Amino acid sequence: MTAQASPAKRAAAEKAAEIVAEAVESGSVSRLGVGTGSTTRLALQLLAERLGVERLGRLRLYASSLDTLLAIRGMGLEAYTAIPRGGLDLYFDGADEVAVEAGSCMILKGRGAAMTREKLLAYNSRRVIIVVDETKLSRSLGEKGRPLPVEVLPAAVEAVVWALEARGVPARPRGGCGCRDGPAVTDNCGVVVDVEPWGRMDVFEVEAFLETMPGVVEHGLFIGYADEVVVGRRDGSAGVVECRRTRVNPGLRRGWPS
Ligand code: A5P
Repeated sequence: MTAQASPAKRAAAEKAAEIVAEAVESGSVSRLGVGTGSTTRLALQLLAERLGVERLGRLRLYASSLDTLLAIRGMGLEAYTAIPRGGLDLYFDGADEVAVEAGSCMILKGRGAAMTREKLLAYNSRRVIIVVDETKLSRSLGEKGRPLPVEVLPAAVEAVVWALEARGVPARPRGGCGCRDGPAVTDNCGVVVDVEPWGRMDVFEVEAFLETMPGVVEHGLFIGYADEVVVGRRDGSAGVVECRRTRVNPGLRRGWPS
């Protein structure tokens, strides 16, 4: 995977590994959350190279998916999946699209169907770093033509699709992955429904609509969940965009007992 990454993705992953390694070396990280996807995987490999696998293994690692859990175990390390009281110190993850609007980082995730546990880890982490190459940047979400993935309880799939269509928003269970008959299923046994709200419903409107719909487990809109976005460029450089964080477990407030 390392050899196949584009220069921009590699630059993003290298910068993320540098930032995370610095945080670990400063002593501020003992619980580290690891996202899902190819950019995260590369950043994890580079982090292991920087810190050494033995040092990385002294952290408590939290995996956002079975795929990431298996990758961590493949490195000879152990990982947890359930979020502990007290939360995590740092979480890093990739994304499918990022639009920065007035200091707020609007992020689309879920190509790999891991958005529910990714969001759980992000919400419960003190610091959240999203890592992307510059091809993922847009002026407003939807510009890249990617759907919004929504995880839905199997019994609610038709009802949720029906409700979205009634609001003029195309939606369909994700299929044709080639690995099983029937729709794509998440690690939580939810069904992935791909939704096309762009230009039909405002991002905040669709977020509110989905979050009040019975049967919807979670969705791939991450608005206000990141502290920083690391962006890798094709010339091999990387920059960091600071974000306004609004979504975080209030238990992470300084002084609240864990
Ligand atoms: C997993 O469900 C996704 O949210 C990924 O984090 C996202 O698709 C980024 O993956 P890549 O780094 O492979 O592009």
